[in-house]
Amino acid sequence: MNKEVQQKLLMFMKNRRTIRKFKNISIDSEVLEAILGSAQWAPSAHNSQPWKFVVVTNMDFKKKLVNNLRSSCSKLPNSIQMLVHKSIDIVDSAPVVVFAYNTKRLSKKMIYLGEPYLSISNYAEIESISAAIQNMLLMAYAYGVGSAWLNMILLIKDQINESLGETSDLVSLVGFGYPDEKPKAHSRVPIDKIIRHIK
Ligand SMILES: Cc1cc2nc3c(=O)[nH]c(=O)nc-3n(C[C@H](O)[C@H](O)[C@H](O)COP(=O)(O)O)c2cc1C
Repeated sequence: MNKEVQQKLLMFMKNRRTIRKFKNISIDSEVLEAILGSAQWAPSAHNSQPWKFVVVTNMDFKKKLVNNLRSSCSKLPNSIQMLVHKSIDIVDSAPVVVFAYNTKRLSKKMIYLGEPYLSISNYAEIESISAAIQNMLLMAYAYGVGSAWLNMILLIKDQINESLGETSDLVSLVGFGYPDEKPKAHSRVPIDKIIRHIK
């Protein structure tokens, strides 16, 4: 690969930001398809592709979902209510919300291995789903679409599942839309603090 491609890839990774405020503009279906399609090219343990995505673009449905979630927040401890409310506000603002589910396709496929393998298969599933989410975030960025990867909101995952009519294991959700803010990059832990070479 040439240097230009390498630099572009790094630029994509460095300049993508979490967007928490979106413009009230919908995402064209071709763009959304490209973003969603990037998920399936992520690596996954044993090529298990243990993901499923529920994509909400219906604004009436989302309004009801947001109202349900807001009312269920009152059951949470006060100390975290505000944080969950912030995530719900992001969902409210996003024209597209993608809910990422673990289908457990890996543990089902490898069930014959039994323990101790099965005790690590959950990690492999979550890691695979996370790789798929990161693909979507970067693809969205390439189309000028912002994204917010949210998991604080999992504190009310039962209510989310009830509203979506889902019973599988909700892992995370991502709000997508055109950015209505330009956040600065948060600092990163210096590279020498996160890497230990054994040469
Ligand atoms: C697994 C995961 C969970 C996250 N959950 C939340 C969340 O619940 N609420 C939120 O505002 N941001 C959430 N974020 C976004 C992070 O806060 C953000 O990625 C981080 O601060 C770095 O900023 P950047 O994405 O702009 O580089 C999450 C990110 C990841 C990867």
